[in-house]
Amino acid sequence: MRKVVVTRRLPIDINEALSDFDVDANYTNEPISNTRLKHLTNDAEGIICMLDEKIDKNILESSPKLKVIANYGVGVNNIDLVAAKACGVTICNTPDILTRSTAELGFALMMAAARRLSEGDRLTRLNIFPAWSSTLLSGTDLYGKTLGIFGMGEIGKAVAKMAIGFNMNIIFHNRRVPDAKNLLPNSNYVSFEELLSESDFIVITAPLTPETKHKFTAKEFIAMKKSSILVNIGRGPIINEADLVNALKTGVIAGAGLDVYEDEPIVNSELKTLENTILTPHIGSSTIETRKGMAKMCVDSVISVLKNNTKPHNTVNI
Ligand code: GLV
Ligand code: GLV
Repeated sequence: MRKVVVTRRLPIDINEALSDFDVDANYTNEPISNTRLKHLTNDAEGIICMLDEKIDKNILESSPKLKVIANYGVGVNNIDLVAAKACGVTICNTPDILTRSTAELGFALMMAAARRLSEGDRLTRLNIFPAWSSTLLSGTDLYGKTLGIFGMGEIGKAVAKMAIGFNMNIIFHNRRVPDAKNLLPNSNYVSFEELLSESDFIVITAPLTPETKHKFTAKEFIAMKKSSILVNIGRGPIINEADLVNALKTGVIAGAGLDVYEDEPIVNSELKTLENTILTPHIGSSTIETRKGMAKMCVDSVISVLKNNTKPHNTVNI
């Protein structure tokens, strides 16, 4: 039977879903080593992999039967797309299905940072809830503020739609200047410099590319408002994390909400000591509905390529 490797536990019955294939799966949440991955995939025709696994030229070239890789996630910066194309391997991801869940987490981080929820939770649990006070953990409103979105893709648009309900003024910056017809109502395209200087909240929803890597460094934090809050639900390396720690420590910006990190799963130890920061462990798409849907989408992609010999709509490297 044709072999499909599944590199980590998924929230569906993977053997039932891929019953026509010889499934070689890691049924645990423990990542497998690169060496083991290479060994497992050398006779595989399909792989369902996770976004923290590096699928490099070496793995691609040592898997001669490989036809399809379905990445459990939307960002594909972990895969060498050029080498995949050269090897004739179709790469699929999980767009659209995770848009709303990821946008909701971005919004949750923005609200949590604005209203200092994690500080409030810690204080309450530690029994240091003092008497009610007019200034205790005073945060900042979202209502009427300017939200800057860096990377207005589907997730950025979903965040913007939610922000309309908070009467936020929405500005965004993209790699490409969008056509007027593609502009979201109530939002305006601005230069990167304007995004930095005008926004009260910046939400990063961009993918990691050579152009977005370290787009936010000390210089950009200085250009932002002192009262501003930065949220990252894109990819960690878009921010220079050491510079961000400094900016948060010295009041260059007011706060941050982060779901992604420069060197996952390692999180900068100083970042963890900062009160004005809320941290989550890369859970943007993690709702029961969405994570099941993503697994189904990966399965469908593998079946589409291996059984029906067609490239699905979620093919990345056409
Ligand atoms: C999550 O980060 C994804 O790329 O799906
Ligand atoms: C707050 O709890 C208020 O009643 O103002």
